[in-house]
Amino acid sequence: AAVEAQFILTEMGAYEKLLEATIGHLNAQRAQGRRHVTVSPEKIDALFSKLTESNGHDVKETSFGQLRQSAFACTKCPNLVSSRTQVVFGVGNPQADLMFVGEAPGQDEDRQGEPFVGAAGKLLTKIIETMGLSRSDVYIANILKCRPDTPGRSTGNRAPTTNEMATCVPWLHKQIDLIQPRMLVALGKTAVGGLLEKDVAITRFRGQWQTYRGIPMMPTFHPAYLLHNQSLAEKRKIWEDMLAVMER
Ligand code: URA
Repeated sequence: AAVEAQFILTEMGAYEKLLEATIGHLNAQRAQGRRHVTVSPEKIDALFSKLTESNGHDVKETSFGQLRQSAFACTKCPNLVSSRTQVVFGVGNPQADLMFVGEAPGQDEDRQGEPFVGAAGKLLTKIIETMGLSRSDVYIANILKCRPDTPGRSTGNRAPTTNEMATCVPWLHKQIDLIQPRMLVALGKTAVGGLLEKDVAITRFRGQWQTYRGIPMMPTFHPAYLLHNQSLAEKRKIWEDMLAVMER
């Protein structure tokens, strides 16, 4: 079986088929209510080293699909691994000129595997559409790929910890490196702070162009803030920020 596996793994296409079959199997297990599988770190390393050998260089994250597969297998935050339904990698066009970055998946996103699909997401979609774009024109991702757990509570959200952000943000850096958007919109304090790697006051930063690794970045309010603050003066600010993005 090992020789056969080795043979299969030398073909990249076959590797992806194997991966798909594995994901299909795991999804079926999850549908039956199974929450954990035990895989030793050695086995995961062996799988990745086969992938690396097969292309002669480190191909783990040279393409978006492979980056996604690696993120799906991430187990760096044990508390989030055991509470998540799935990893919420991102959605949209991997060749997008414009990329939106949010905080972390909420309950709806954790269930559906897609960022910004809940109430705040619907507002973000409206904002994107009012800009003359659709969700499939842009790329949408979060600082955290897993929903922050809320032990002892069945509802509600919590902000990511500094530690969780530092652990997870390399996935986002790699996503941005591959997408190479012409512009970024950072939604809220966590997104702005996570990308700039410092603590920021969103009220001071919003509307002020920043630079993330040479890419212009517009900090603005998180749409959830607008859901809770219906004042026209605050709504106007986010529109001014989006107008600046459209103009640029
Ligand atoms: N809030 C976020 O920051 N991201 C999501 O994906 C959903 C809600």
